[in-house]
Amino acid sequence: MHEKDLAGDVVAAGIADNPTAAAAPAHDCDCPSGAGEAGATRRDFLRGGTIAALGIFASLGLGSRAAAALPVRAALLLGSTRETKTYAIPAADGADIDKDAGVILVRWQGSVIAFNLSCPHQNTALRWNQGDQRFQCPKHHSQYTPDGTFITGRATRGMDRMPITRAGNTVVVDLDHIIKQSDDMAAWQAAVIKV
Ligand code: FES
Repeated sequence: MHEKDLAGDVVAAGIADNPTAAAAPAHDCDCPSGAGEAGATRRDFLRGGTIAALGIFASLGLGSRAAAALPVRAALLLGSTRETKTYAIPAADGADIDKDAGVILVRWQGSVIAFNLSCPHQNTALRWNQGDQRFQCPKHHSQYTPDGTFITGRATRGMDRMPITRAGNTVVVDLDHIIKQSDDMAAWQAAVIKV
């Protein structure tokens, strides 16, 4: 599958009715033992992934017609504590990005979900790919549906979610808790706001 950067891609696929449907393949990574999934923390990613993240968000500043057409936006941050971020509920389907917090806020087909920006394999910043209608990792090419369901690649689980609650017209994302699909399927599935 041809990989493109965000300037040319926008995700347009729906959230699957059953986000757990995709099966995780055997881990075929040649990475050092323990790296990535279990070894790296969210804080590690935020420190080390800045350069990669900058590449992802470059498209946000293009101002071109192509970029304007992308359903990829900067998340509207309304409040912040040490542990939480409060965002406006996205007005339309698409991916709202808070690169500083490492959060992807997806609205799709009546659901809002908060994801960790980093790939669950080795913490590379994920991309939102319109052409393939999915999230895509530029490092080892893992792919995910808009609800974070794993499709293919070296990752062994869906995109990591964060607890999210609704407060009026905002959503509050708990940055201190990463929900891994492989660790707690029920919590992963429940980390959704219906809008
Ligand atoms: S970092 Fe390896 S698939 Fe994303």
